[in-house]
Order: sequence, then C-alpha cells, then structure tokens
Amino acid sequence: MCGIVAYIGKREAYPILIKGLQRLEYRGYDSAGVAMLNAKGDLNVYKRKGKVTDLIEFAKDEDKSGNIGIGHTRWATHGEPNDVNSHPHYSQSKNIVMIHNGIIENYASIKEGLKKRGHTFLSQTDTEVLVHLIEQIKEHEGMKLGHAVIAALNQVIGAYSIVVMDKNDPDTLIAAKKGSPMVIGIGADDFFIASDASPIIEYTKNVVYLEDEQVAIIRRGKELKIRNLKDKEVTHYVQELTLELESIEKGGYDHFMLKEIYEQPKSVRDSMRGRLNTTSGLITVGGIVDHEKKFEKAKRIIFVACGTSWHAGLVGEYLFEELARIPVEVEYASEFRYRNPIIYQDDIVIAISQSGETADTLAAIELAKSKGATVLGVCNVVGSSIARATHGGSYTHAGPEIGVASTKAFTAQVTVLTLMALHIAKVRGTLTESRYHQLLYEMETIPSKIEEVLKLNDQIKEIAYAHKDTNNALYLGRGVSFPVALEGALKLKEISYIHAEGYPAAEMKHGPIALIDEAMPVFVIATKGANYEKVVSNIQEVKARKGKIIAVVTAGDKEVKEMADISIEIPETDELLVPLISVIPWQLLSYHSAVMRGCNVDQPRNLAKSVTVE
Ligand code: M6R
Repeated sequence: MCGIVAYIGKREAYPILIKGLQRLEYRGYDSAGVAMLNAKGDLNVYKRKGKVTDLIEFAKDEDKSGNIGIGHTRWATHGEPNDVNSHPHYSQSKNIVMIHNGIIENYASIKEGLKKRGHTFLSQTDTEVLVHLIEQIKEHEGMKLGHAVIAALNQVIGAYSIVVMDKNDPDTLIAAKKGSPMVIGIGADDFFIASDASPIIEYTKNVVYLEDEQVAIIRRGKELKIRNLKDKEVTHYVQELTLELESIEKGGYDHFMLKEIYEQPKSVRDSMRGRLNTTSGLITVGGIVDHEKKFEKAKRIIFVACGTSWHAGLVGEYLFEELARIPVEVEYASEFRYRNPIIYQDDIVIAISQSGETADTLAAIELAKSKGATVLGVCNVVGSSIARATHGGSYTHAGPEIGVASTKAFTAQVTVLTLMALHIAKVRGTLTESRYHQLLYEMETIPSKIEEVLKLNDQIKEIAYAHKDTNNALYLGRGVSFPVALEGALKLKEISYIHAEGYPAAEMKHGPIALIDEAMPVFVIATKGANYEKVVSNIQEVKARKGKIIAVVTAGDKEVKEMADISIEIPETDELLVPLISVIPWQLLSYHSAVMRGCNVDQPRNLAKSVTVE
C-alpha cells in the first residue's frame, strides 16, 4: 500500500508529483505529502492528513519550485493518519527526506539505538527511523548517500520501497526496493520513479522494474546505475510499457468502479483473446503449456489468494473438480503461509491476484516454492511481483483496475480459470468431446451476455434505492453460485459499509436463518441448474419468515419469479459459467448503494487497492 512518486530532471517537479499522487491514490489515501528541493537549495516539505486535494489546498500559496522532488500518498501502518505521521519524513538534521512504502519490522530496536546516539523522533512511523539511520551511517561513516542507503538497508528487516533525497546532493535521488513495487521511467533527460507505471506513462514508455534488494542511483543527466545490497553494480533491462493513458482515466464515467463494471464485456473478451478458438476447438493458455505434464499427473491443486481473488479461486475449485477431476483446495494466503501446510512436490499451487503485489499471496508462493511445488500465477498486472515470483502462469488481460472494489478483475480471473480447467480436462481426457465443445461455444457468448446484464442497470439502481438504508443483508447461492454470494456480500460491505454476509443457501438453516425478518433483504442467485429446486426450497424458508427476496433468475423463469419480491432476469448460460454473468447485478447494486449513501466509491475508508503489507 502507499503510493510513492519522485522526479528528477529539468521540468517543474511539483505538478508531476501531484498528478502522480492522484493516479496512485488508489493505493492509500490517509494522507499525502511532497518534498521539493528548489534552485536556492531550500528543501520544502508539505504534508497533510487526508487526500491529495487537501494537500493541494494546504500548499497552494507555498513555494513549490524545484526540478527534483518526492511525493507520497499513505495507507497508515505505524502511527495513526495525521499530519506528523505523513510522509516525507526528515532525518535528524532535516537535510535528508524519505518516502516509504512497506513495513520495517525491526524499527523499534533501531530506534532505541538511535535514541542513545541523541536522535529525537517526531512521528510514530518506522519510516522516520530508517531515514535517521541512513543519515547516522552517512555522517558517521563518511559515506555517499547511495552507499549509506545500502548500509542501512542491510540492517533492516521488512519490506520497503523508498526514495531518498538529500539537500546536500541536489542532483541525486536514491531509490530501493524489497517486497514493495517500484518502477523507474527513463525520459530524454529526466527520471520518474513510482510505485506503478501510471504516473510515468505520459512522459516515457521506457521503464526499469527494480528487483528486490536493488538500489538505484539516479543522477540528473547521468545514466541510471543499479547496485545490490552487497554494493555491487548490477545490469538492468529497459522494458517498453504497453499501458495506454486512456486505460487509467475515467473516460466519462463518474467513478472508476462503474467504468470497470462496464468494461467487462471487453475485458472478458480480452482474457479469451488468442486463447479460445471455437473453429479449431483449441484452447491455448500459454502459461500452463510448459506444465501440462504436471497437470496430467497432479493429485491436487491449491489456490492461494485473498479477497475477491480468493472468491475467484472458489469458482476455480468447482471448475477444476468438475471438468478436470483434480482435487482442489482453496486457501486464504494469509492463513496458508502461517499454518505449516502439507505441500507435496507434485502439488500445483496457483496464486490468483489482480495487483500481483499482495504480500500474503507472495509469502504463500515463496512457501510453496520452498517445498518444491510447481507454482503458477493468475495475475492482472503485467510484470508484477507475483508474476515474476511464480514458475509460470497467465495474465488475465483485464486492463488496469483502479477502483478499490475489484470487479472486472474477478470476471477475468474466472475466465482464465475456466479456460485452464477446460484445457487441462482435455489433456487429462476427463470430458467428452461434445461437452468440451459445448462449453467452448458457450464461453464465446459470455461477453454479449454480460452486455445484456448491464442493460439492467436502471432496474438495479431502483433496487439499490429501495434498500440503501438497510443495516444488514444476506447473500445466498449454491454450488458455483456460492462464491458469487460471498463476492456480492464483500462488494456491498466494502464500499457502502452495509453489513452483509454471504452463505451457501443450504447453510442458512444452521444459524443465519435466525436473522431473517421483514427488514432483512436476502439476495439470492436462483438460476436454472442442478441446484435450482433446492434453492427454491431455501427461498421458501426465507419467505416463511417474512424475509424479502431479491433473486437473480434465468430469463423466462416462472417459479422463483412468483415467490421473490424482486427478480433480476439474466440470460441463460451453462450452469458452470453462470458466475461470469450473475456477479454483475451484485456489482452494480453495491455501486449504486454506495453512491446513494454518499460513500467514496473508488476510495472506501480504511482500504487500499494493493495490500502490500501482511
Ligand atoms: O490484488 P489482489 O487480487 O491480490 O487483491 C486481493 C484483495 O486485496 C482484493 O481482492 C480485495 O479484497 C478487494 N478490495 C475486493 O474488492
């Protein structure tokens, strides 16, 4: 979490930093700050609790000149979100400033040592401790800034991406990374540093992704140099960005979340592009081709993920078990990593992540690799840490997802998992030819079916209006629709702050049924399929207790429509593929509920888009 941005070159740094911070605000928005070094040698720091707009207002009459500077938008870990804990942080002499994304785990012991040497601290942050340490080493050992940063990083335990600026060295920025992402853009005569490529894209397409334990020495007008923590120079590779500027802008929508919901016909199509060929009857999922033999013999697949990606993993469980007949376990990465799990060398672990930066998922991957398992990734962000840490895998190609609530990433993940499961089913011979082809053809129709569901927006807006003041909601589903119930509940609670629970419909009678009364809306997926009659019975149980049913049903349904208070009719599709379209009404419902309740849809309280801390 936290977004960092920095600039060194010939342009005015402040506008670049502010624009960059606004692009990175999805990563955290508790506070924001900048530091600029002007031509007179003044180091000006402006920082404020709140959003980037609060910072702009705060600094509006201040001197913001200078063509070197650093900026930060924070998601608080150590210390509450306030002006003092905001970044950048000063060193003891106030000559050095630093921004940081990550957590320094041993900061307390370092802080004690520095206090004994006369250091005083203003904030409660681990970041301030690190910048003090850097200065202490620089002064005490008589080192240049870059070497002092390397020496200091050798003493810290934890994750970081940092940028350091020194008043006494106005032509240099030092950047370093471990665990948290960092990209360096190389312009004609300037450098741009950021947590992801979004602040860089409009200035240059040439970027270097810093690797873990690398330190970049970025000097005005000089070539980029990268050293490792052993203080040895390492070779770096310049890559060309494929990201387009339009894809990270709102494009006329009020919120990124709405734009991303509406992008799903395209993003699902993009996830299938070049992979699904109904004419040849072939599915080609590049990332798993090299591992086909492993899948052929696999006794178990373990999905590791968090949040919405974990829900996609649950859908994957149904798909792989049903189609490829491989036993699947779906694990919260945060639990898996600390549980001493039993992992066999012939296990295939698949990590699912939109950002590719989730700390718990990354740790789960390292654990699985250390036990000899084959680890694959299903990631959206190209070049992300998870994509690089895994043995192989597939990108979802959903395009940048900026709204904190994950929407198009989910449908893209489920699309890729479906293609993988179908491909592996063919390799293992667990599916008849006709069923295989039937599913292939049906997959191809999904984007246009999503388009149909999006046309229900006005109806769903009315439903949101009718329920916007509820305090609680229950989401139910069975089989492959159970993860969609979980996803619907997560969406509602995270952006509209309405308490919601997702349950397998049949589990309701083991507890949650006690919550049902006339004030409780129950959102049910009751589409046609093997579980239909069972879900009908569950709906009756709710109705018998005066609960209010809002059901997603298959177009043309009569039985549930008669029972339900409100029905949302979605196009018919294969039972296994229903999650790809049944999740859309729940996404729209949570979006409209949040807007009507006056919530900040794209930046819900306490959350951040990439959870790069455990
Ligand atoms: O980037 P990832 O997919 O690894 O992120 C996992 C979760 O943090 C994420 O899905 C989170 O739950 C979203 N806010 C859900 O909308």
